[in-house]
Amino acid sequence: MNQKSRDPIESLFSEERVFPPPDAFAQAAGLNEARYRELLAEAERDYEGFWAKRAREEIDWITPFARTLNASEAPHYRWFEDGTLNVSANCLDRHIAERGNKPAILFEGEPGDVRVLTYAELLAEVGRFANALRAQGIDKGDRVIIYMPMVPEAVIAMQACARIGAIHSVVFGGFSAESLKGRIEDAQAVAVITADGGHRGGRVIALKTVCDKVLADCPSVRSVIVLQRAGNPIAWQEGRDIWWHDAVAGRDSHCPPVAVDAEHPLYILYTSGSTGQPKGIQHAAAGYLLGTILTMRWVFDIRDDDVFWCTADVGWVTGHSYVAYGPLACGATMVMYEGAPTIPDAGRFWQLCERHRISVFYTAPTAIRALKKLGDEYPRRYRLDRLRLLGTVGEPINPEAWMWFHDVIGQGRCPIVDTWWQTETGVHMIAPIPGVTPLKPGSCTRPLPGIVADVVDGEGRSIDDPNTGGYLVIRRPWPSMLRTIWGDPERYRETYWARFENRFYVSGDGARRDADGYFWVMGRVDDVLKVSGHRLGTMEIESALVAHPLVAEAAVVGRPDEVTGEAICAFVVMRATRPRPEERPAVTETLRRWVADQIGPIAKPAEIRYTDNLPKTRSGKIMRRLLRAVASGQGITEDVSTLENPDIIRQIQDEGAA
Ligand code: WTA
Repeated sequence: MNQKSRDPIESLFSEERVFPPPDAFAQAAGLNEARYRELLAEAERDYEGFWAKRAREEIDWITPFARTLNASEAPHYRWFEDGTLNVSANCLDRHIAERGNKPAILFEGEPGDVRVLTYAELLAEVGRFANALRAQGIDKGDRVIIYMPMVPEAVIAMQACARIGAIHSVVFGGFSAESLKGRIEDAQAVAVITADGGHRGGRVIALKTVCDKVLADCPSVRSVIVLQRAGNPIAWQEGRDIWWHDAVAGRDSHCPPVAVDAEHPLYILYTSGSTGQPKGIQHAAAGYLLGTILTMRWVFDIRDDDVFWCTADVGWVTGHSYVAYGPLACGATMVMYEGAPTIPDAGRFWQLCERHRISVFYTAPTAIRALKKLGDEYPRRYRLDRLRLLGTVGEPINPEAWMWFHDVIGQGRCPIVDTWWQTETGVHMIAPIPGVTPLKPGSCTRPLPGIVADVVDGEGRSIDDPNTGGYLVIRRPWPSMLRTIWGDPERYRETYWARFENRFYVSGDGARRDADGYFWVMGRVDDVLKVSGHRLGTMEIESALVAHPLVAEAAVVGRPDEVTGEAICAFVVMRATRPRPEERPAVTETLRRWVADQIGPIAKPAEIRYTDNLPKTRSGKIMRRLLRAVASGQGITEDVSTLENPDIIRQIQDEGAA
């Protein structure tokens, strides 16, 4: 376990408050104590039978499956493989008879425009757009890049792909042209769906213009479908570009859902790992769908009269599972909001909660911390009495932020589900059952039924001593797990399974368990950072920095930050001599802007320190642990005499003080 993983959670060790579910909540909850125990016992007794039963109960199959789990090519597991289904039909068509006129999406744009789409309307829009995709020659198995603002059309595009069996890969709208290009190339995408622009933070984000920077170098892309959203001027390439409204004009709203195999890839989502190259996490249709439905019910206790709001962008996995698929598969009403939480002021989220009568609210700790800092007067201006359940995801939540969320937003009435999961796991893995599980601020509590999570030591032995840190692993395959890394099965094996000889899935997180068996996630044990809940690889940022002509070498580490969780700190060795103090602000600005162009603004280092060399072992390995200690202002306690260049430490420390 490295140093970094211990830092952010020091304060959690003393956390002893326990919050049992409020009686009223427990009594009304969809999953009560007795049923929960039954599910646990069932999964314990007959693991595969447990999952088969859930899959038969929750999914409308076109061809029912007979085989539950095929482990013959482990760790490439296959679930329900002889069944066929359509994910979009499971999200839309099956609700029409009972809920055709129920709102599926309540959309609010950043400028304040509101749009409501009922299930019937959404199905028609998805059908029309699916037919438009077909007309563009897009077929089952083709990859389609979606690079959109948070508007209903993003969900419509994803659902339309699912409807025809095309594989979508959503690229977060904050990623740069270079990142977009890398993903288009890796997926060999045939089409890009984008918008002229979207509204965010009071500005227009010109998405199509970003696409245009690289599309000429992406020969696989035959068509670009452009939604008119922000009205900003854009360039146009005849024959390749087509407006969304022209693409759907005159199309039939009926598009029969295509049957796909359970294992057919539903989507690829690129995420950061410990190399410079993002990896395409590939999810399978049936298992993934099942996971989203079960966790909507178990963890979000979703009910027909709920209004559900997950604030995540569809560019992240949270926006896939709990915006584009889970809520719809359960026939819920959900809110989508296009913009930033502070436009026009820090009350926007709470205003949305009041205006749309939101009852279940799911967001990231970084948003909670940022809004807490801006003051209680904002939430106090709005009626939040319809809220009944709150949730968090993306990073550990510190108890102070948890208490504020609980007392000020939830007014002491709402349980908080702290959900631990990853892009790779597809859906929640360790999370409270809100009507059952007593909560401890900062703990994601216990694994869900059917999920066999464990904390193991370096030899893969289960750690039974309470509060001893180890690797967080999952001992048995589960339906919503990733299937592979797109185009790179070897990297899949290497990254998630090789560490313990394919015996279990290795999450890359460190965790400990307390005496009650509650899990406390301590953060990443690999070179992945969580900045404002966004996942970034240190190697990606390093590769971007060294690609700049001024830079010879770079090392990137995270340091704790009060609001963003972690902040990016880069140590840079220039090709020429170190910039003089008066030159530094300009050089730093150049490099920050460069990183934003290479990856996206979210990857800009908060701090850049210049040094003549990086601390290395004699074998040439950069001592990141030391850099982390320096970045976070901690003293260096260990022996540095084994370093190739011990003197460099002093320079790096002085550099920080300068
Ligand atoms: C972290 C986001 C503590 C963790 C769904 C994980 C968390 C990474 C929690 C995955 C939580 C997510 N408590 N840490 N409740 N949820 N994490 O792929 O380090 O963007 O490995 O998926 O976020 O990030 P990803």
